[in-house]
Amino acid sequence: MKRSLSAIQPTGVVHIGYYIGAISQFVKLQEETEAFYFLVDYHAMTVPFHPEELHENLLSAAATYLASGLDPNKATIFQQSQVQEHTELAWILACLTKMGEAERMTQFKEKAPRAERASRADGTERASVELFTYPILMAADILLYDTDSVPVGDDQKQHVELARDLAERFNKLFVDTFTVPEPRIKKAGARIMALDDPTKKMSKSAGSAKSYIALSDDDKTIAKKIRSAQTDSMGTIDYDPKNRPGISNLITICSELTDASPAQIVKEFEGKGYKEFKEALAHIVIEFVAPIRERQRELLADKAELVRILNEGSKKAREVASRKMTQVREALGIRL
Ligand code: AQP
Repeated sequence: MKRSLSAIQPTGVVHIGYYIGAISQFVKLQEETEAFYFLVDYHAMTVPFHPEELHENLLSAAATYLASGLDPNKATIFQQSQVQEHTELAWILACLTKMGEAERMTQFKEKAPRAERASRADGTERASVELFTYPILMAADILLYDTDSVPVGDDQKQHVELARDLAERFNKLFVDTFTVPEPRIKKAGARIMALDDPTKKMSKSAGSAKSYIALSDDDKTIAKKIRSAQTDSMGTIDYDPKNRPGISNLITICSELTDASPAQIVKEFEGKGYKEFKEALAHIVIEFVAPIRERQRELLADKAELVRILNEGSKKAREVASRKMTQVREALGIRL
């Protein structure tokens, strides 16, 4: 059976971009593959954070996974920091990564200015070294599990490509040790755009909370955010992502949360205006988010059960990861 693996950062907000680009794929793949889905708490530490929030965010992200349809009986759901092999392999892969490769990563370029702004609050000015090196930790996350397929949004494609390059390099320089992973990126919905600026990716920290719909937003907030989503002055419901990014992004969200294609949506709203379309979309998003939000709330009422699920998953993950690290150390001559 093929293996799939992916993760999200427990940073407090899970927006519908995560769901459409990544989590919806996890839910599908847990039926077809041996699935490993985890919470990358070490990645969440690459930007300023508070310890109490990190813990709370971990449990709330675990609850979001379950509320979105991940099933611990089908997928191994775990906490990255409980599997020490991730950081151990990251060091080894960092020794194989060239400066130029790390410098090419566009996510660092996008995230560093934001991290620097946030850092000023704690008296520092610069982004952390680990914000720069996190794609190497991500490569370790992937390669430890002999992953075939990595379902992600398209912002992560470059990082999966780095993992592929490092696997191939290691296999060539030493012994054939790692499976070379493939990114799995949806044709539509791989990059949901910000509601308040459809030229930018929907992102939890790029703009204000108006730019995203969180899976924890209440009905009123969702309706308000969609009502104020940026469109254009044309007034017609047409799908043209290049020239009309605002309305096209809303059509993509609508299409991804229903069975309708963008063409069907355009046809359905022919002759109608933004107000009607936005009202219909708000209804669809509310119907989609409300059960997840409610289920997440119920799950968070039993934190001990969430901890149990993460501990059990982490134990299973550790068994796989430690077998792989034994092979890695052997291949590198790290032995007595
Ligand atoms: N807007 C998006 N559209 C489609 N997929 C997306 N993903 C994130 N944003 C979108 C995918 O969701 C997964 C979660 O990734 P992450 O936890 O690493 O978060 P991120 O990519 O750093 O998300 P943000 O919101 O953009 O965070 P900040 O504000 O910190 O930069 C990944 O598979 C990602 O591709």
